[in-house]
Order: sequence, then C-alpha cells, then structure tokens
Amino acid sequence: MRVIIQNSYELVARWAAYHVMQRINEHPANAPFVLGLPTGSTPLGMYHELIRLCSEGKVSFQNVITFNMDEYVGLPAADPRSYHHFMWENFFSHIDIRKENVHILDGMAPDLDEECRRYEEAIQHAGGIDLFVGGVGADGHIAFNEPGSSLSSRTRIKTLTRDTKLANARFFDGNPDRVPSYALTVGVGTIMDAREVMILVSGIEKARALHNAVEMGVNHMWTLSCLQLHPKAILVCDDDATSEMRVGTVRYFKEIEGPHLVNWA
Ligand code: GLP
Repeated sequence: MRVIIQNSYELVARWAAYHVMQRINEHPANAPFVLGLPTGSTPLGMYHELIRLCSEGKVSFQNVITFNMDEYVGLPAADPRSYHHFMWENFFSHIDIRKENVHILDGMAPDLDEECRRYEEAIQHAGGIDLFVGGVGADGHIAFNEPGSSLSSRTRIKTLTRDTKLANARFFDGNPDRVPSYALTVGVGTIMDAREVMILVSGIEKARALHNAVEMGVNHMWTLSCLQLHPKAILVCDDDATSEMRVGTVRYFKEIEGPHLVNWA
C-alpha cells in the first residue's frame, strides 16, 4: 500500500487528479479506460481539477467508462440529493464523457437485487475496473460498506448506520431521519477486483479511520483496511488525516514517497 501525505486538501485533490489523468493518458487507445468513482465532499476538489485539465485539453474522457460506487435507495435521479444528480452537477456535465459510458446504480429499480446483479455484470462486460477512486467515512467505510460488511461482498443493498445518516444529514436539511435508510453499493470484493484502488482521505474526522486502515490489521469493522490485501492500493491523505497515526509511521511514508512534487502545469 502506498500512503501519499500532502500538506493540504488542495494538494490531495491535485495529486489525485493528476494520477487519474496520467492513468487515462497512458492507457492503450484501442480499449476504454474503466474508472470507478465516488461521491462525497472529499472528491470535489479532484473533480474540479479534472474539469480544468479536460478544458485545457490535457485529458479526455471520450474513451472512459465510469462506474459509480453507490446510490441511495428511493431517490430518483433528478432529486438534487441523489448521487446521479451529484455526479452530473459536479463532474459529468463539465467534461467530454459520453452519456452512455456513465454507470450509476439505480436506487429506484423495481427489483433492487437484479439491479445489483446487472451492475456487476456490466463491470465484467466493460473488462473490469482499471482504477477505482473512493473516499472514506469517519467509521472507515468505503462506498457504503458499513462496519461489519463482508470483505468479499459484491454489489448489494445495505442498511445505513446511524453514524452515516448523521454524517450525511447535511444534505437532508440537517435531519438524519430524512437520510434514506438503504443504499445500493458496490461490495468490498467489487472494489478489491479493480486493478488499482486510490482512496482520498482528508480532515481530522477521518484520522481514526486512517489509523485503523494503515496501522492495524485487516478488519471488517474498518472496511477500508481491506486495502492492505490489494496489490496496488494508494491512500492520498492530508496532514490532518494523519493525526492519529504514529509519528514514525507518518515519517516512514513521507520518506519513502518523497515530496511528490508533480509538475502542476
Ligand atoms: C458516503 C459515501 C462514501 C464517501 C463518504 C465520505 O458515505 N457513500 O463513498 O466516501 O460518504 O464522504 P465525505 O467525502 O463527504 O466525507
């Protein structure tokens, strides 16, 4: 596992955007690049940078297929709180992606189990995910794989925890009881099947999750820790997020990774 530690959220966003750009640009042109994407506040800076890079002609999404991590059950795509809406509003509408290449789980599907099965099939059909980008919840969840989720889980319906409802209440008039109780989410196993996984971690409220994922053992109570078993995993963090890690661990990763001065052209 690589742990990239940056001074600020802005640098996390830039590092992540440049990494995505580099992976897309180095991908053979005769096959689409398959990108897994998250919602949440954390990836917003990365999306912003990618929009800029795309508008400057440094990266194109014409040959990119995307699969989002999750979606609430019961919110139509047009609902401003849905992840469909979030993705189009904050990213897809501003880049040159083809509409038919965007995949987001349908939380309004009449048969939710079938929807999840179909999603896994679509990922397979696209050739598997080249790079899965994600964020993390304060309780260490990735996508909506809440504490206790099977580490070999596939796309399915999950019940959201009180913690997650409280964290997401800000999008529902501050009322956790208005947050949907269920979501469709890719499984931990689905994420682990990606050829590369990059998770963005920012802010002191994620510090315990980062500590548990990096310094403790693989544990279903902190589903992010599954990345210890992934052959190509990157955690991109800001200094605040490392607050619960040992000084020695932080120094170790800073030393082996170097300052990572990307040419921010
Ligand atoms: C939700 C999403 C996760 C995301 C998490 C953290 O639970 N399902 O994919 O990582 O929120 O969001 P934020 O980046 O806003 O802290």
